[in-house]
Amino acid sequence: MKPVITIDGPAGAGKSTVSKALATRLQFIYLDTGALYRALAYKALKCKVDVNDPDELGQLCSSTDVILKNENGVMTVFVDGEDVGDKIRTEEVGLAASTLSTFPVVREKLLHLQREAGARGGIVAEGRDMGSVVFPDAEIKIFLDAGAGERIRRRHEELVQKNKPVVLSDISRDMQARDYQDSQRKIAPLIAAPDAIIIDSTSLNVSQVVEKILEHISGIHD
Ligand code: DC
Repeated sequence: MKPVITIDGPAGAGKSTVSKALATRLQFIYLDTGALYRALAYKALKCKVDVNDPDELGQLCSSTDVILKNENGVMTVFVDGEDVGDKIRTEEVGLAASTLSTFPVVREKLLHLQREAGARGGIVAEGRDMGSVVFPDAEIKIFLDAGAGERIRRRHEELVQKNKPVVLSDISRDMQARDYQDSQRKIAPLIAAPDAIIIDSTSLNVSQVVEKILEHISGIHD
């Protein structure tokens, strides 16, 4: 069976770009687990569900159909039959996703979907708890980090490119709140699994990070 590769790390560390590029190079499936939390958050915001209320979140989870479909090697999220696409890529949705992801009812709902997607191997799965909780037996685990200033700069550039201009200080504030919430929560917090290799991408470009990961993989298989 082809391996499962997990890539965890804080917001803006370059996980998505690196994971997509790596999956393309290896012809593996790409799974963005943040998109699952964002998709639920998107529906919560649309339906005015309080993302801090476990009862309201419980109802949201039991009344929402979330599925993953493999579309040309990319796992795409559908919520109640709708491909939520780029609508989930806002800072508002990101922050709401970070908040609702602290609740067990939400994590349980999404856990089996993620494991099912990785059951046949040959997948690059990115998120916060891929190596620690979702795929603890993954053969290759990466923890991708970068300095806070660089992560803010990258997120700013990404949003500007998408024509979603935002103020740098707002990104900095939201990212700090998200980092704190994601790493301090009780269940499945953002941590590097003990058997993960840590890559600091502050001064590396995407291809350099991908090459480092490929070197690590070939080292394991030598
Ligand atoms: O990776 P992202 O920025 O799209 O994720 C959005 C939020 O979802 C993140 O702040 C925390 C949550 N998340 C999580 O709790 N566990 C994951 N495996 C992925 C994301």
